[in-house]
Formats: sequence, C-alpha cells, structure tokens
Amino acid sequence: MTQANGHDPWPGIPNGWFAVAWSKDLVPGEVQRMHYFGQELVLFRTRSGVPKVLDAYCAHLGAHLGEGGTVIGECIRCPFHHWHYDGDGTCTNIPYAKKIPPRAKVRAWDVVDRNGMIFVWHHAEGKPPFFDFPVMPEIGHPDWTPPRYFDIEVAVHMQDMAENNCDPVHFKYVHTMDDAPESEIEYGNDGYFMRMISRYATNARWGGVAVNLERDSWGLGLTSVRLKDIPDCGLLLYSSTSPIDQGHTCSRWLFTVTNNLVDTMGEEFIDGMMSGVQADMRIWENKIYRARPVLCEGDSFLGSFRQWAQKFYSETA
Ligand code: FES
Ligand SMILES: [Fe+2]
Repeated sequence: MTQANGHDPWPGIPNGWFAVAWSKDLVPGEVQRMHYFGQELVLFRTRSGVPKVLDAYCAHLGAHLGEGGTVIGECIRCPFHHWHYDGDGTCTNIPYAKKIPPRAKVRAWDVVDRNGMIFVWHHAEGKPPFFDFPVMPEIGHPDWTPPRYFDIEVAVHMQDMAENNCDPVHFKYVHTMDDAPESEIEYGNDGYFMRMISRYATNARWGGVAVNLERDSWGLGLTSVRLKDIPDCGLLLYSSTSPIDQGHTCSRWLFTVTNNLVDTMGEEFIDGMMSGVQADMRIWENKIYRARPVLCEGDSFLGSFRQWAQKFYSETA
C-alpha cells in the first residue's frame, strides 16, 4: 500500500503483540468478526472462557466464520455447512461426513488475554513470538480504581503513532507544555523493551510538583505510562496501538489511578491525556510518512526510535 502523490511508501505491518479487543467485551460463546493486519479474522471465546483467533474463511467453501459462526463448546461452527473448528484451527466435525479431509484446517493465531485486553501475535513470516510482556499489577488491584476504557481509530500508520512516545519536543508545541521535558531512554529484554523516563514540573490544579513519567514499550504496539515519585499514589495509562492495515490504526487506552487520587488527579489526568490525543489526531490524520526524515540535533530520540523500530519488521514487510 502506497501513499498518495508518490510519497514514501508506508512501512509494512510490524511483528509483535497487538490488542484486538477488550477482554470485557467478549463473553464465553461470543463471536466477533475482525479486520487487523490487513486480514479478515474471527475472534471467539470458547465455553470454558478461552479466547481464540482464526483466519476468517472456512476451508470448505470459504464462508466467513465471523458472520453467523457459532461457538459449540470449545469450537466454532461455520454458518454454511456446520463444519466445526477447534481453537487450533483443525476441523473436528463435519456433521454429514465420517472422514475429515486432512486439509480441513484454517490458520490459528497466538492469543493472550492479559491486562484487560485480548492480544494477538502478528508476524509477517508466521514465526512464533520472540518477546513477551508483563502483567500490570495495578489493573484490577483493590487499591486502584476500576479501569476506564477508550478507543480510537486513526487514519495513520501505527508506527507514526508509536513514534509520538519518543518525541519529547512536540509536547511543548502541540501539548503546550512549558518546555520539552528532560528525558532518557534505556533498553532491555534483548532490545525488545524500551523505557523512556521524562521529568516534568507540573503546574496542574493539584499543585506544582516535579514528577517522573515512565513510559515502557514492548515492541511497537504496547505501552504503559506510569507517574512515579509521589509516595503512595500512582497513575497508569496502558495503551495498545494495533494495525488495522498499513494506513489505519486502532488505539486502546486503559486508565487507572490509586483510590486516593480518584477525586483529584484522576479525572484531570484522563482529560489531559484525551485532549492531548485530539491535538495529535489532527496531525496524524493529515501527515505523510517520511522514510528518511530530515532530523536536527534536538531530535536524537526520534533517530533512536526509528532504529529501534526496525527490529520489528521482517525483510518481507
Ligand atoms: S463453507 Fe464452511 S462449512 Fe461449508
Ligand atoms: Fe502527542
């Protein structure tokens, strides 16, 4: 997929873990049609509660399993001739045939149900997961508020959204912060994990304090932002950025704060983040992708982000 008017082509679809649904939105027995990574998929939750993702089109005559497919126990049943597929994509039952043809299979995707989201592993060459990501202890903890959920769809390549995390300069010009925050980056987990710590002096309603924002990223699709250094208080924004296709991205945002902050900083933090996204949206939806941007000396983080991002693309992508 190329951009209009001969601009640089979009990067491909990166490899990594990407959220495709909220866990709360998929009860046992439910089936959802999905389009991610430029592909048609079906998501369902088995009766025992395990989410499964398969390629959408039945091996038989190609019906879409997400349009009228039904969960039967641990399987999904095709709406057309009632072939059954288990969560591994193997056909386990054809109600009008004794022998199941060996090629009666559809592709199954690796799925993880964690931190309130259902994640799928995407790899352009079909290789298994090469990194993992942790459980967020704050989500669902009794000392933290029940999560608040937001999602948006943006007409931009997902890498351009992820790049925002490594662009401290734009905080001053887009998000009207006093100054670009002082920041540093470190890497871990064989280089698939990145932490960026930014120091802010806030002048919010709740007082002028110096805080550290810690942004952790596991690949290009998954980020947490934590407010650090205020004793016994905490804020967490957990967000996933998933490629619908090369030019469209679905971003999910989960917020939770410690109960002692709920009436003060909590709403302000959420409002601040969401109005920040509105300001970013106008830029994202109207920008082009520059494969080789002209960078200046104040853009060192952008340069290192672009280098890091390359780890997540297959040659073929
Ligand atoms: S197309 Fe799915 S069972 Fe025939
Ligand atoms: Fe931004």
